[in-house]
Amino acid sequence: MTSPSGTRTGSIGSRPDWLGRLAIPVALASIVAVVALLVLRSTGSGASLETELEGEFAGAYPAEPVGGGQLVEIELVAAPTTIKIIDDQPTDVWAYNATVPGPALRGVLGDTVRITVRNDLPASTTIHWHGIRVPNDMDGVPDINQARIEPGDTFVYEFTPPDAGTFWYHSHTNGSEQLERGLYGSIVIDDPASPNLDIYTQDVVWVIDDWLLTDEAQLDPDFNTASDRTHNGRWGNVITVNATLGETLEAQPGERVRLRMVNASNGRAYTLDFGDLEANLIAFDGLTVGEVSDAEGLVLAPGNRADVDITMPTTPGLYTVNDVFAGTPQPLAAIAVEGDTAEASPLEPTTNDGVPDWTAAAEAPIDDELVFETSQRDGEWVWTINGEVFGEHTPIEVTEGEFTKIKLINQTHPMHPIHLHGQFFKVLSRNGEPVDEPFFRDTVLLNTLDEVEIGMVPLDVGNWVLHCHIQEHAEAGMMTVMTVAPTTT
Ligand code: C2O
Ligand code: CU
Repeated sequence: MTSPSGTRTGSIGSRPDWLGRLAIPVALASIVAVVALLVLRSTGSGASLETELEGEFAGAYPAEPVGGGQLVEIELVAAPTTIKIIDDQPTDVWAYNATVPGPALRGVLGDTVRITVRNDLPASTTIHWHGIRVPNDMDGVPDINQARIEPGDTFVYEFTPPDAGTFWYHSHTNGSEQLERGLYGSIVIDDPASPNLDIYTQDVVWVIDDWLLTDEAQLDPDFNTASDRTHNGRWGNVITVNATLGETLEAQPGERVRLRMVNASNGRAYTLDFGDLEANLIAFDGLTVGEVSDAEGLVLAPGNRADVDITMPTTPGLYTVNDVFAGTPQPLAAIAVEGDTAEASPLEPTTNDGVPDWTAAAEAPIDDELVFETSQRDGEWVWTINGEVFGEHTPIEVTEGEFTKIKLINQTHPMHPIHLHGQFFKVLSRNGEPVDEPFFRDTVLLNTLDEVEIGMVPLDVGNWVLHCHIQEHAEAGMMTVMTVAPTTT
């Protein structure tokens, strides 16, 4: 292993009235659906459809880590430090090993990682390995997977990543403050068997974050405000890549570069605009895509990762990558293309044939429905899932190896990037329209009043949280647990 911006958008709202009037037809339709289902079940085709969907999934990613590699030992110390974001002005942050992002961890598929975390912060903490399918007690969620690491204490995380790709690690305790202060880093796992390893002369991680800074370049000390909670979380006035304003990568004309982009922001989403660069999406949320597509216009919600393959233009110049999520372009970073022309490898990036098509999943019954809403508890706004806040939640129960279809319903105006630990899923439909994304995700963005159906075959047994990745929403209740029970057969 080795431009100030920042409008806070959206507001808490509820489902518009007209949906109430659809109640009777919906009730009738569901009776028809239930009858149809019973018919399907009795003829056995319902079960065979699920068997078929599970068959399509088989081999998409491994059930167990392969192992057999080295034991890599790492020490991470979480502590206050200062970094420089705006010119030479020091900004007080919290960081792993005194850098933001924390050390860029990199390993090889098969390696076992043992990470000793020492907490030198004035607060308790934990670390979550976002996107890595770790053993359940290594997943980093306080009260669900482990006890908080108290100031002065250490905790040892150990796991063997089963998948290659771009992942990230971050505090999973009081994230609205701890992520905002800088407690995050990237973790990349390479597959030594992948021919893709050889086709890039540069392989670069860009961790994107926004900071809400005062005129003195200090973090605004009011974390998790009522306004942050009721809007789309804390949006900053400065956007950085690898904690650098105006990060610039140098590349040669014709050079082939792999860029791994991570959204580590508390609440801000980015819509990627590559301008004159041709960027191809080769992996999403870690895993290799089933089919390469154009990355232009891709939305990177909090938690998401996108790996893009860019062959640099032959014309030297400064090429900017912008965010256009809120309409007006905001520069994220740039690529300075200069020097001698490079010989780029002509190989096509490999893809994962195992990514299921799952178009037939449109006919599969919905196993669980999760309704994301808002309400008040003792005069405070909270975010609920099926009417419950985290702590009073009813776990979603699913079974290892069984195709599961879940409908996510946003009954509010703010957005919710919904993240599931321990599993990958595929988006099946959005607002009734089939979606054909040739890749898995671990985080999907629900925009205003969106209804999104996802499909998955859980492989990892245990209690995994599902939550909004807007830190302030998760802390105001929008989190539940998916319990994956071992298969009984
Ligand atoms: Cu990246 Cu539960 O989070
Ligand atoms: Cu949310």
